[in-house]
Amino acid sequence: MSTNNTDTIPALLRSPEFMLGAHTAAQWPTDEGTEIAFAGRSNVGKSSAINAIAGRKNLARTSKTPGRTQQINFFRLDDSRRIVDLPGYGFARVPLEVRDHWERSITQYLAERESLRGLVILMDIRRPLTDLDRQMLDWTGSMGLAVHVLLTKADKLKRGAASSALLRVTRTLTAYTGECTLQLFSSTKRSGVGEARRHIIDWLTEEERNGVQ
Ligand code: GTP
Ligand code: MG
Repeated sequence: MSTNNTDTIPALLRSPEFMLGAHTAAQWPTDEGTEIAFAGRSNVGKSSAINAIAGRKNLARTSKTPGRTQQINFFRLDDSRRIVDLPGYGFARVPLEVRDHWERSITQYLAERESLRGLVILMDIRRPLTDLDRQMLDWTGSMGLAVHVLLTKADKLKRGAASSALLRVTRTLTAYTGECTLQLFSSTKRSGVGEARRHIIDWLTEEERNGVQ
């Protein structure tokens, strides 16, 4: 059975709705409830991963051109829970002031957002742990933010090569100071989608399970 079969999508992830694309912090939705954000290098496949996880084709806009997601996009799951698609970092071919603006908004979002429960960081399995990925991990680690890494585009490598890449990155990430997990992922082949969904659902429902109102 395909992991993309709607029967297997947890109820909470089944009908996300685009809320808004924010250029400035003033436009962010009220900071309450629980949010999970997706970050990673430009063109790594963040928007595609959100679509695969929600079992939808065009919820988050994807593109072959890097730098497609230019705002912080918020998707509503229910009254108190959201998924957030962040602009990609490290894309050289946009004007410096635009890049500065994105990077500042990502940094501000990660530093200030109270409802942010966890960050999904995507890395291309063929080029994991770039300097910017390491900076991001150092920084989120110092803030104590929980991270789940998707080694994505895993379909581009043979199974053996993908497993060794997973092992290499796992070894490096043992040095991470906070809660950090990782997995192989492919939006194209829909592999790892169930595991990613389970992780996100765990984060989103943690307060409920712990009996916090
Ligand atoms: P920005 O918004 O520009 O930062 O990009 P993004 O990280 O949201 O990437 P997006 O989802 O738009 O995907 C970028 C390109 O990679 C598109 O051409 C996708 O079809 C392709 N892509 C995404 N995920 C996968 C994957 O798992 N495997 C393969 N082979 N291609 C993928
Ligand atoms: Mg995108």
